[in-house]
Amino acid sequence: MTDPTPAVRDRVLSLPSSELPAYVYDLAALRTHVTAVRAALPERVELYYAAKANPEPEILGALGPYLDGYEVSSGGELAHVAGAVPGRPLAFGGPGKTPDEVTAALEQGVERFHVESMYELRMLAELARRVAPGRRVPVLPRVNLPVADGSLAGSSLAMGGRPTPFGMDPAQALEAVRALADGTYPHLELRGVHAHLASGLAAVEQLAVAESVVSWATDLGVPLAEVNVGGGMTVDYTRPGHRFDWAAYGKGLARLTEAHPGLTLRIEPGRALTAYCGWYATEVLDVKRSHGEEFAVVRGGTHHLRTPATKGHDQPCSVLPVDAWPHPWPRSESVGERITLAGQLCTPKDVLARRVPAPGLKAGDRVAFSLTGAYAWNISHHDFLMHPRPGFHFLDAPPAR
Ligand SMILES: Cc1ncc(COP(=O)(O)O)c(C=O)c1O
Repeated sequence: MTDPTPAVRDRVLSLPSSELPAYVYDLAALRTHVTAVRAALPERVELYYAAKANPEPEILGALGPYLDGYEVSSGGELAHVAGAVPGRPLAFGGPGKTPDEVTAALEQGVERFHVESMYELRMLAELARRVAPGRRVPVLPRVNLPVADGSLAGSSLAMGGRPTPFGMDPAQALEAVRALADGTYPHLELRGVHAHLASGLAAVEQLAVAESVVSWATDLGVPLAEVNVGGGMTVDYTRPGHRFDWAAYGKGLARLTEAHPGLTLRIEPGRALTAYCGWYATEVLDVKRSHGEEFAVVRGGTHHLRTPATKGHDQPCSVLPVDAWPHPWPRSESVGERITLAGQLCTPKDVLARRVPAPGLKAGDRVAFSLTGAYAWNISHHDFLMHPRPGFHFLDAPPAR
């Protein structure tokens, strides 16, 4: 779905121009979506949310009842998520953890450490001895596993299966697993292994990755209680109505859990949980022609919504026409069929969507960009050109009882 939900549409049309642009989130739509995701997953699959996709407290809170925990990838995320949803299980991952961050995570009592290197394992072991002497800290070494040729081909962001700074090569991960299992680090407890090999994979590719990781883990000859196969479920910005096939993925994971009755599987999606619940809404400021092409300049731009610039796509959008025109000067208006939607920044890279079919688009019309609930505001370079920040609206119709 690309059109705004009725609640979002009403809000976007009722806001005065001075309160645009705005991020508008439909928390009821988010709940409906995550309910369906949860229902598609077998019982023995734990669902964590990768907070980096969208860490707004309202989003973290709305997702809470459907999740087993949250994945955090920095000391900042750790403190933020622990404050926003207190008492929920946290898994602390990410490369380049500092001693201060690891100490804070130990003091916080995070449920799982995803260890990215042998150096980090040794640091964690020593800090655990000092900071948490009375308990064994649960650890999952992160493995960068080569997978069958082609499995990561559809990925927009491959983090594994090739040289990257993420996780450990299989031989090193095995070394870490063995050291954890043989008592080298008495303050650490080997729980299992973690992998996040790529983002942007469809269900068939995701299952191939999960199968490779589970089969590698269960062939190590060391008993493991759990395997975290990561996130990375695709969001297709070119086909916004087409969602990741959670039903097929869930069936495949069910086959995997049946084949390994003692094993808990865990996934940690970000984008595919929250992308669909957010809209970046704005107003057309001007419409003009340049060298044969039409452009609409909208309030805001890629400093608020960097996603199309980083991923190189056109952000899906809907035009909400507005009849009223409050100014004494004439409205600018398009004459062609297609128009490029650009922002207010002084760079040709500030383009949100190219050649959008929008005949008759006028200054004062509103545009709602969809699929902006993940990796949108929080990955953008907000301060460039010092334009005002957008408003944030969390529309909440509590779940029906
Ligand atoms: C370790 C880890 N887990 C989970 C995710 C979430 O990925 P996605 O938002 O594509 O599901 C990421 C994204 O970078 C990641 O690095």
